[in-house]
Amino acid sequence: MSVKKLNVGLVGAGFMGKAHVVAYSNMPKLFWPAPFYPVFKTVCDIVPEIAEDAKERFGFEKCCTDYMDIINDPEIDIVSICTPNNVHAEVAIAALNAGKHVLCEKPISATTEEAKAMAEAAAKAAEKGVVSMCAYQYRRVPAIDEAKKIIESGAIGELTNVRTQYLQSWSADPSSPLSWRFEKKTAGSGTLGDIATHAMDIAQYLAGDITELVSIVKTYIKERPVQEGGVDLLGTVKLGPDAKKKPVDVDDEVSILCKYAGGAVGSVEATRMAWGRNNYITVEAHGTKGSITWKYERLNELEVCYGMDDKDGERGFKKIYTGPANPHGDVTWNIPGMNIGYGELKAIEIYEFGKAIVEGYQPTTNFQVGYQLDRVCDAILESAEKHAWVTVK
Ligand SMILES: NC(=O)c1ccc[n+]([C@@H]2O[C@H](COP(=O)([O-])OP(=O)(O)OC[C@H]3O[C@@H](n4cnc5c(N)ncnc54)[C@H](O)[C@@H]3O)[C@@H](O)[C@H]2O)c1
Repeated sequence: MSVKKLNVGLVGAGFMGKAHVVAYSNMPKLFWPAPFYPVFKTVCDIVPEIAEDAKERFGFEKCCTDYMDIINDPEIDIVSICTPNNVHAEVAIAALNAGKHVLCEKPISATTEEAKAMAEAAAKAAEKGVVSMCAYQYRRVPAIDEAKKIIESGAIGELTNVRTQYLQSWSADPSSPLSWRFEKKTAGSGTLGDIATHAMDIAQYLAGDITELVSIVKTYIKERPVQEGGVDLLGTVKLGPDAKKKPVDVDDEVSILCKYAGGAVGSVEATRMAWGRNNYITVEAHGTKGSITWKYERLNELEVCYGMDDKDGERGFKKIYTGPANPHGDVTWNIPGMNIGYGELKAIEIYEFGKAIVEGYQPTTNFQVGYQLDRVCDAILESAEKHAWVTVK
């Protein structure tokens, strides 16, 4: 069997650069026949030592410090963007204009103006069969896709309420350093763009777009010690009391109440200040006949209560361990309970990206979706400022 080879260029070789490489490598091993086979052509990082290291460690043929070397290389088919948020737009637009398929990390950009320009460039490129995708991978967890199937089958009735949360703790300590994630000019926003968007993407996947909302947005730690270097170490280093400090100009915590296009109401909460919570993403969906609940830290387990079918006194949640019989079953191991994790999840994302490229359609997390989420973020900031309900533009 001959599987098409596609040449990959990676821009940004930090945490997510590694995640993308692992996912590209594993995708054809988990999904076979694969939509394509990745060839690791060029890795770019603005820090020369990181670029050199990534070339050797990940097995790229070349490395560079200027992403235009990737854009100008006619051999490169795919550009994966894993830089801080303020760099996404310039790389993505250049890549799309050069006819390259783009997988861009989330949030799509640091500003809504940039997101709009990216969505426009993606729409134009789509006319020539070029695919754009934002890395909102959590909606692709097999248990979340199973939840969507159950909701669409009508088994839990009409959705009334969808609540999602994304709680982390890595910046709860005031001595956790000020990296690019705490600077508006680089990140765009704080917890809002970084993790609330993931929770909102899952909620919107299940319940439809958020149409109206009211929010609270808080910054608890107003200044932090400055971390040297451009790579965010995500609170793994603590700087002493003598370290130089800088003001934080982004949010630590976001809460919203919202209405969804599908008719349900709900809430989304996100914080990076929740001691004891690590990658605590939760979903609770209530329908007129039953409920669904899930959390990322037990990502293989979906709990469903078919309320109307159970007798009084015997009613409760039944636990489904996802496996080969559930969506993207190829990626899982043979027996439910053997479990998948973040690595397999990112491989599902690459599989969906590749399928869209080869079959010629835009994936469900395309740049229009990334742009819509940026508009929800704008509405959240506007509502917090006005202390009022706001309609998403
Ligand atoms: N989908 C997810 O689960 C997830 C998780 C974490 C981060 N992210 C997103 O991934 C992106 C990267 O985050 P990260 O945690 O990997 O950051 P990071 O700080 O670990 O790495 C960023 C890398 O980009 C490099 N870089 C900066 N400017 C550059 C430029 N102009 N050209 C080339 N390289 C440049 C830096 O030197 C660094 O090596 C962000 O948009 C972030 O929001 C997504």
